[in-house]
Amino acid sequence: MCGIVGYIGEKNAKDIVLNGLKKLEYRGYDSAGMSLWDNKTSDHTLIKVKGRIDALEKRIDIKESPLAIGHTRWATHGKVNQENAHPHTSFSGRFIVVHNGVIDNYKQLKKTYLNDKTFTSETDTEVIAFLIDYFVSESLPADKAILKTLRLLEGSYALLVIDRTQPDLIYAAKHKSPLLMGKSNQGIIIASDMMALLPTADQYVALEDETFVTIHQDAFTIFDLNGTVQPYQMQPIDMDDMSSEKGAFDHFMLKEIHEQPAVIRKILNKYFEKNDVLLDTAMLDTIKKHDRIHILAAGTSMHAGLVAKKLLEQWAGMPTEVHIASEFAYDMPLLNGKPFFIMISQSGETADLRACLMRLKKDHHTVMTVTNVRTSTLAREADMVLTIHAGPEIAVASTKAYTAQIAVLAILSYALSHQSFDLKAELSKIASAMDSLLEKHEDFKPIVESLLNKRHCFYIGRGLDYAVALEAALKLKEISYIQTEGFASGELKHGTIALIEEDTPVIALISQNSTASLTRSNLNEVKSRGAKTLSIVVESLRENGETMLIPDANPSLAPLLMVIPTQLIAYYAALVKGYDIDKPRNLAKSVTVE
Ligand code: AGP
Repeated sequence: MCGIVGYIGEKNAKDIVLNGLKKLEYRGYDSAGMSLWDNKTSDHTLIKVKGRIDALEKRIDIKESPLAIGHTRWATHGKVNQENAHPHTSFSGRFIVVHNGVIDNYKQLKKTYLNDKTFTSETDTEVIAFLIDYFVSESLPADKAILKTLRLLEGSYALLVIDRTQPDLIYAAKHKSPLLMGKSNQGIIIASDMMALLPTADQYVALEDETFVTIHQDAFTIFDLNGTVQPYQMQPIDMDDMSSEKGAFDHFMLKEIHEQPAVIRKILNKYFEKNDVLLDTAMLDTIKKHDRIHILAAGTSMHAGLVAKKLLEQWAGMPTEVHIASEFAYDMPLLNGKPFFIMISQSGETADLRACLMRLKKDHHTVMTVTNVRTSTLAREADMVLTIHAGPEIAVASTKAYTAQIAVLAILSYALSHQSFDLKAELSKIASAMDSLLEKHEDFKPIVESLLNKRHCFYIGRGLDYAVALEAALKLKEISYIQTEGFASGELKHGTIALIEEDTPVIALISQNSTASLTRSNLNEVKSRGAKTLSIVVESLRENGETMLIPDANPSLAPLLMVIPTQLIAYYAALVKGYDIDKPRNLAKSVTVE
């Protein structure tokens, strides 16, 4: 969703901020803007566009600047247009603001303080700029006016503020939306995502909630909202800039699909010492003291949770429930016994999960975050963290994070169990099987061309295959815009089979011996009613005529392989249709609003 980048220092702020914004494109946005100090006019200039950063870049005619702030907007308040794009300016023109997050009480603040003012946008952000100006007009100095404004805001914000009368200073503030301060010996960079700090900074600090920062080119000071200085510690940045490049692949999604075997091997390196699982025994003991696990997640991560539930139950004997985070946060089920909570989030920034975490912390529950981003908000604020080591995932459609989440949660389930099979060997076998499936990735293009020529599609399966069917359907719909349902195959005949007509594509997932023949019967039922069908089957369960074969593996881990063809089907479906695969319409990579 929205992205923020700011820079002040000896290097060219224009290039640094533009590059930073480009690195955040993957998060999804619909308009962009920048404010830069112009040495020629000794003033700030402001440029905004509806659309892409390339268009913004073309509109900037300043070559060099020592200070700039930039923003990519994913609309929450008001239409996608130039007026609503950030930065926003205060009524006197003195303050310039970029903002991520949502201000819940902006209408109330408008009414109380700014009733006589004329706004140029429909955004909540403009109210922040106006309020600062309003308090300055009541004779507060700029920093005090910003602090007073921050204390009035309800909701979430990551903010950068420029005061045109102080050309060597950027103000920043953070509450509930991420904001990181990066430092090098040539300046300070501020961004809402670690990716944008690279390669400018070599150290960073993630700001805490309710903080306010004054930033000069060689130093910054962090305050709480009462203006008291806060201590902080810089950390080295442990991320490779190259890992966010596409390399030889046409799309990040295809690259990330292909990275999956390497990610599984990396997870094995991180979580095994010879054949022993490397997980903190105190952490495992804490989990064992609880009698029910609740998994909270959204989208693909929730689908990984559905697979993890089976592993925690089958291997570790831990009753487990999976919840959609946005539902759980405001409609919490009755919890009995001693519940333990696992939040799964690739980004570690999903606002629906943060809302759950706040609620759970208030009730003193113990929470573990399973995430790809160790520095993320959900990782920092949970009691325990497991990293999935997938490396930066840039494509909006999540692929390698899904399999990495399942692999790490499989290791956790195993460590909580008394199982004695060789999990490390099973997972290495899966990594090799992924390699062999991926070698044939181009075969999926003709399959997709002949199968998916309708506006809708079904994936069906039972048990673990049903869990994968849900993820397969999400992947296909989010990038190819084909309306796809993941369905429990036995449930079709209770109503949904009415939707089957001539040539409706139905793809069956068959990896479990106990349900294979039942799923096949259900597939035959739709075939008799005209459906065009395809079975994705593990080799040992293959029947005549079935050609899309998946190498055999431990059946509980089969989702790690079954999902690969479905990711490729989604990829090639979007490719054939000519859609923007890495940045599908209306979607954002990191969903930081509720
Ligand atoms: C999946 O392809 C989507 N991008 C989306 O469903 C995603 O998994 C969801 O928004 C959760 O994100 P998170 O894992 O970063 O919390």
